[in-house]
Amino acid sequence: MKKILLLLVAGAALVVAHGEEVRDGILLQTKSTTMAFRQEGGRWLVSHYGEKIPTLRDVQTLAWRPRYLGENHLGYRLPVTYATYGDTGVTAGLNKHGGLAVQHADGTLSTYLRAVKAETVADAPGTTHLVLTLKDEVYPFYVTQHFRAIESCDVVETWVEIKNDEPGAVRLTRMASFALGFPTLGDEFHVQHQPGQWGGESQLVETTLERGETVDFGSRGGVRDAWGNNASVMLSIGGKATETTGRVFGGVLCWSGMWGITVYRDQVDGIEICAGADTSAGAYVLDAGRSIKLPKFAFTYSAAGKGQISRNVHKWAREWQLPNGKALRPILLNSWEGAYFTFTEQTLHDMMDGVKTMGGELFVLDDGWFGRGKYARDEKNQATVGLGDWTINPAKLPNGLVGLSHAAKQRGLDFGFWVEPEMVCRRSELFEAHPDWVIGERTRKTNFGRAKSQTVLDYANPAVRENIYNQLNALYKDVPLLRYVKWDANVDMMNVGSPYLDAAHQANFAFDYTMGVYDLLARLRTAYPNVDIQACASGGGRCDYGFLKYADEFWTSDDTDARERVFIQWGASQFYPACTMAAHVTAVPNHQTGRVLPLKYRFDVAMSGRMGFELHPKDLSADDLAFAQQAVTDYKRIRPTVQQGDLYRLVSPYDGNYASLMYVNEAKTHAVVFVWGLVRSVSRDYPSPIRLQGLDPAKAYRVKEINRVPKARTHIPMNDKVAGGAALQAMGLQVALRSDYDSAVLELTAE
Ligand code: GLA
Repeated sequence: MKKILLLLVAGAALVVAHGEEVRDGILLQTKSTTMAFRQEGGRWLVSHYGEKIPTLRDVQTLAWRPRYLGENHLGYRLPVTYATYGDTGVTAGLNKHGGLAVQHADGTLSTYLRAVKAETVADAPGTTHLVLTLKDEVYPFYVTQHFRAIESCDVVETWVEIKNDEPGAVRLTRMASFALGFPTLGDEFHVQHQPGQWGGESQLVETTLERGETVDFGSRGGVRDAWGNNASVMLSIGGKATETTGRVFGGVLCWSGMWGITVYRDQVDGIEICAGADTSAGAYVLDAGRSIKLPKFAFTYSAAGKGQISRNVHKWAREWQLPNGKALRPILLNSWEGAYFTFTEQTLHDMMDGVKTMGGELFVLDDGWFGRGKYARDEKNQATVGLGDWTINPAKLPNGLVGLSHAAKQRGLDFGFWVEPEMVCRRSELFEAHPDWVIGERTRKTNFGRAKSQTVLDYANPAVRENIYNQLNALYKDVPLLRYVKWDANVDMMNVGSPYLDAAHQANFAFDYTMGVYDLLARLRTAYPNVDIQACASGGGRCDYGFLKYADEFWTSDDTDARERVFIQWGASQFYPACTMAAHVTAVPNHQTGRVLPLKYRFDVAMSGRMGFELHPKDLSADDLAFAQQAVTDYKRIRPTVQQGDLYRLVSPYDGNYASLMYVNEAKTHAVVFVWGLVRSVSRDYPSPIRLQGLDPAKAYRVKEINRVPKARTHIPMNDKVAGGAALQAMGLQVALRSDYDSAVLELTAE
């Protein structure tokens, strides 16, 4: 088996050296939440997850007594930390949904996990890390379950390591990372998640979860989490939560491969949430003596609505998950919509001049620079050739990427380029040399996607990873001024199976593929920690926190229409902070929708994320250019608050014909409010005053409209006046939207 899968129970020695043994129970405390565990009958149970409780004694006193109400009701519900198939004595009703199902080496189907040891282990300051060691009652089959509570952001990270010491291989029919049964928490539940498609990512869906129902959603096809759905969930407990009210559980699965999330409400209101890598197409075969580490699931709880769930996860992302989440993201111009495959060195130099004039900081060369001869990815061949051949096309760019990076440097810009490392075109030197390096089955013909040429490399195969690493490493090394790489992935797994794996391990291919991609990413990120990565992938989910351990940001959608982006970014903001959300100002008519929106609106929407450009600056009029320069200056000033501040979603675009959100810095001395009108309707859209959130009620703020079109009337009657935080939150701001797609950006500075 592959080395990358042999992740031994990390830190086992460390546990003993630094560990503090936990006997009957423990509280994992964060700023505002408690997760309480207790041991009962050799099993570890969760006694509470939610609002903070100061003492273990209280939790133990009030803990759910499983059989107290009789066995036909909630009596059987033992909220074990990890529900397994077959352990019928305690988890009846959960088994179909339990997180772990194993066929042991001798064919036995059930797994009875029992507590061996529980201890806290040394970890970063501000965390409490609990490790539960569990073992099957009979078999040398071990599960180590980690719960790492992060104080400052109210997030608990959990993951599972499985070790097979049985004499033969075991089959993991289900291997969820998280499988927690909660005793009754309420009598009404709503599940929110984010399906989507290419050009319509992160569309919010909320369904009522009735008794006896399961809400079940997952990825479509294995390359990233980018297809169909995002690997995240919010569950409203006891009534539908709003942005500011209601009890909410929220979680993200940090996994870029195939996955599934289910929320199950049984007939008596027990809830079980499962999240993990998807094995529904075949059990993962774990050979004797091997271990597997399953992806992390990070979760949080809010007693005050969904907005707090987002803020908790955003803070966690910036401080604990992203490679460099506290850094400000650069303002860039990406060449794609401004040039597509049609460019020369001169075109790119002109673009660099343009972005520099606007005040930008980074130039990124998109697709179309690589492949040679008949496989040149040029204007003629477009996307039909060349993926896999990561060498410059000298006919198009005689001075190479190095020359371009120097040209950028001369202009005071950083430089980046586009790659699609997981993919290959059938018309490429790489595919010609290694037709067996792509995912698929020997007896079937290979399906090809984009331009009928593209398919997915078999990252389960170490030789593939080595080849692509060497090619990319050569590029990274050759371009010493490299700052940024856009890492694309434009087809789904259109075939199944790995030619590298043997017959017995075929069903492992999807999991091993993702581990292989992570292996490559980790090598590059270790060798080049300062080269940022943008995750890009066509499709509904777009990104996930598995990939965002290595990538700094993601291309939120190919749909760059600002009106569409109001919705897409609203959806993405449920779990992803503004610093990760690439939002580019593009030309009109918009290339995806044909819509013509005011330049101000396009800026006002892009400025709420990681702003950049995707156009040829020479197409801007002198007035537009002047507006852009002013907007970039403004953005640089508000950037720390937008990218690092707390998000408050004020008015949802789903609820009417305008939307509003705001960011507040940590000290609550600076805030930025965005208001985006949709289609004007005189009878419907006199927005009531927009009540602000997150301010310090005791502070006074000067409110100033920024990003104004010269000579246009201000949108707020109190422009450049001072008001107290308490009043701004209670009375709100009157904002006049006067036409279709009118918008306003307001900057608040504490005085
Ligand atoms: C995908 C990306 C675009 C662009 C093209 C290049 O569609 O989403 O931004 O990079 O690929 O082929």
